[in-house]
Amino acid sequence: MSGLDVNGLWLRYGATPVLERIELHVPAGELVTIVGASGCGKTSFLRLLLGELKPTRGQILLDGKLLAAEPGRERGVVFQRYSVYPHLTVLGNVLLGLELDRARFTGHLFGRTRRVALSRARAMLEAVGLADDEAKYPAALSGGMRQRLAIAQALVMEPAILLLDEPFGALDPGTRKDMHALLTALWQRLGLTVFMVTHDLHEGFALGTRLLVFDKPRWDPQDPTAYGATITYDLPLRSPEAHTSPELAAALASAMRPRRAPASVSQFPHHP
Ligand SMILES: Nc1ncnc2c1ncn2[C@@H]1O[C@H](COP(=O)(O)OP(=O)(O)O)[C@@H](O)[C@H]1O
Ligand SMILES: [Mg+2]
Repeated sequence: MSGLDVNGLWLRYGATPVLERIELHVPAGELVTIVGASGCGKTSFLRLLLGELKPTRGQILLDGKLLAAEPGRERGVVFQRYSVYPHLTVLGNVLLGLELDRARFTGHLFGRTRRVALSRARAMLEAVGLADDEAKYPAALSGGMRQRLAIAQALVMEPAILLLDEPFGALDPGTRKDMHALLTALWQRLGLTVFMVTHDLHEGFALGTRLLVFDKPRWDPQDPTAYGATITYDLPLRSPEAHTSPELAAALASAMRPRRAPASVSQFPHHP
């Protein structure tokens, strides 16, 4: 089947369950936004899709084939911060993946291969609006420029799937809006499949073609780590009624509600 399939996926860190019973089919070309309380396993889910983590149980298939055991060039990732290398220039950051890919032995590109890589890197910088900044180092860039660089670095490898982990969370509202327009344009132009985790519900609704809510359907107040999270709501966003469903409102209210661990003994006043 074309697209991405997640079948019966569970993830545990040691004895601690984080994700359970995840079932998902995402056809190529969707822009899937993911919301859920902090700590419910959203980043872990992206790392599973990236191939950086192995599921404890279950499978992830890309176009019907088991996901490669290593992160590969068909998947690109952008984190909230620190995705770019501070010791490389803007151009160097975008070239890096191409260099590692093409020149496994020498780490350098020569002649025609280098010219092709340079022109691809520069085209990508142009697409994200950093054409005039190629000689700068990340320290000289604003937060928004750094995230545009991180996106260019991921996209120059021409991945089929782009994974974004709260990529705009640290940006000011104006810059975030520009980034939304950029992401939408690149997604459409390149025909990408995108998974984007966000803690901003408006962003999730505005950008996605589909919204996933991650939450723990089972919750033990005595032991908040007893159970893992799963997809409690899976909503296509391009229908007018999508935003007004009472089930969605309930799912969001549950997922976004901060849950506190039970008060530990030390929080109670001591009576000697
Ligand atoms: N490498 C790890 N080893 C052990 N526990 C981890 C590891 N990474 C994350 N966790 C724990 O797994 C849970 C889910 O983390 P994460 O996927 O980062 O959640 P989210 O991105 O939704 O905030 C958290 O309780 C976190 O502390
Ligand atoms: Mg996270």
